[in-house]
Amino acid sequence: AQVVQAEFVKSSVRTEDCPSDGLPEFALVGRSNVGKSSLLNSLVRRKRLALTSKKPGKTQCINHFRINDSWYLVDLPGYGWIDMDPLWHRFLWFSYASAPQELRTDWGKFTKDYFINRSTLVSVFLLIDASIPAKKIDLEYASWLGQNQVPMTLIFTKCDKRKKKKNGGKRPEENVKDFQELICGFFQTVPPWIMTSSVTNQGRDEILLHMAQLRNY
Ligand code: GTP
Ligand code: MG
Repeated sequence: AQVVQAEFVKSSVRTEDCPSDGLPEFALVGRSNVGKSSLLNSLVRRKRLALTSKKPGKTQCINHFRINDSWYLVDLPGYGWIDMDPLWHRFLWFSYASAPQELRTDWGKFTKDYFINRSTLVSVFLLIDASIPAKKIDLEYASWLGQNQVPMTLIFTKCDKRKKKKNGGKRPEENVKDFQELICGFFQTVPPWIMTSSVTNQGRDEILLHMAQLRNY
C-alpha cells in the first residue's frame, strides 16, 4: 500500500472541473492549521509536494494529487477561520477576497457540492487536532457529513504533542476519547479512526492500508 509515485494534477473550482478519468479518490478536510498539508506530505514521503501547489492569493480549491497513477489524494480548503487569532484571520482574508466572486459568497458551498456530487469520492478523511479539546465546528462538520451519508474516516492529528495547560491540559488520547463520545450523540457508531503524527509519521502505514482496503471494496 506504499506510495511509489505522487504528482500534483490540478486545482479545480467546481466539482465538474475535477479530473474525469474515474480514478478513486480520498479527500483531506479539516480546520485550517489542523495539519492537512503536513499529512499529505507524510503519506507521500515528500517534504513539499502539497506546498508547491499552494499559491498565496490565488484560491486553492479542490487540489488533486495522483498517487501511483491509480488513485487521488485531494486537498480541500480548511474551514474554521473564525476560531483563529485576528492576525491569521486578516492574512487569510486577503486570499479569500481574491477568490472568484462565486466562491466568496459561500466558501463552504462548493466543498459541500463536491462531497455530495463527486461520484469517485471513496471516503472523506476528516482531520481533527488531537492536541486540543474538541471544537464545536469540527463536531458540526462531522455531523453534516454524517447526515449527508458521506463516508468518513476520522484522522486525529498532532498525536506527538504533549499535554499543555493552555490547550486544556489533556493528553491527545484523552481529547480523542472526548471527541468520540461527543459524536456518538449523532452517529449510530463511531466512524473508523486513526491516530497520526506528521512529525513521527505515526499512522502513515495504517492510513495507506485503510485507503487500499477502501479502494478494493
Ligand atoms: P491550512 O493549509 O491553513 O488549511 O493548514 P493545514 O491543515 O494544511 O496545516 P499544515 O499542514 O500547514 O500544518 C499547520 C501547522 O501544524 C504547521 O506548523 C505544522 O508544522 C504543524 N503540524 C502539522 N502536523 C503536525 C503534527 O503531526 N505534529 C505537530 N507537532 N505539528 C504538526
Ligand atoms: Mg495546507
